Amino acid sequence: MSWPTLFFPLVLVALAIPFPVRGDFVFYENFKAMKDVQESEALRAALERPANCDAFVTVAIDGGAGSGKTSTARELARRHGFAFVSTGEHYRVLAYLLERLGVQPGDGPAIARAIAPLRPGTVFVGNQGHLSLDGRIFSEGELRSPAVNRSVARYAQLPELRRFLQDYQRTLPRVARSANFPGLVLEGRDMTSVVFPDASLRYFLTVDAEERVRRRREEGICDDVAGRDAQDRERLVCLDGVSPIDGTGRTLEEVVALLSRDVEELLR
Ligand code: DC
Repeated sequence: MSWPTLFFPLVLVALAIPFPVRGDFVFYENFKAMKDVQESEALRAALERPANCDAFVTVAIDGGAGSGKTSTARELARRHGFAFVSTGEHYRVLAYLLERLGVQPGDGPAIARAIAPLRPGTVFVGNQGHLSLDGRIFSEGELRSPAVNRSVARYAQLPELRRFLQDYQRTLPRVARSANFPGLVLEGRDMTSVVFPDASLRYFLTVDAEERVRRRREEGICDDVAGRDAQDRERLVCLDGVSPIDGTGRTLEEVVALLSRDVEELLR
């Protein structure tokens, strides 16, 4: 073989080495024929990862009155672009309405009759989902009046009323998802135990009694937190599998950072 005949292919190979062909293609008749595919490490790792971008994250936060549930849930949701729902508000809506109707907290049949025709819905103001009844939402002034503060825990004990709200609350992940939120943070006693026992993440917040009363006073709210907790005692339980978080002496940022780490881990 002459020198030029040998030399020419060698030059071609040497030139091709720095420029690997990237867009080469193989033609298969169908998907099943792809038996000889050699996946690289990187491709296999990517394909084996759970498809978390499509997963919807539900975070349930429980705890007593004044434990920082609402602020924690709101801030956690803001950080991650999730929707946020305060379920205490739902009980306040019904307490407000029933008071206006003059229905007493102890009158179960009258309460059941009053709530049966109501059509619950959700209105988002920013990322916060509010319970609407027949399309109407309620103001902070209406829901945080001293009268509602006093009566809400008693109304909240009625099983029919709880069932009405819990059925509505179970629709919220679907509602938030269809509003294009990648996740939902719900706070309220019974979220981790009854309503969302299978939430992606579940927390139970505690703060010692003295600090809770002080926090409420600093917010300018006169609220008998210990009294309301006593009425809600049976619902205030930190179950197995729920992460207890002690917020005593911790700032809001510190508590949110703890939860946020778990959310990031889940989304990674
Ligand atoms: O979180 P809050 O203070 O706004 O709650 C108002 C009342 O509603 C509180 O006394 C307990 C009750 N509640 C309940 O029974 N279950 C929930 N999921 C949320 C609140």
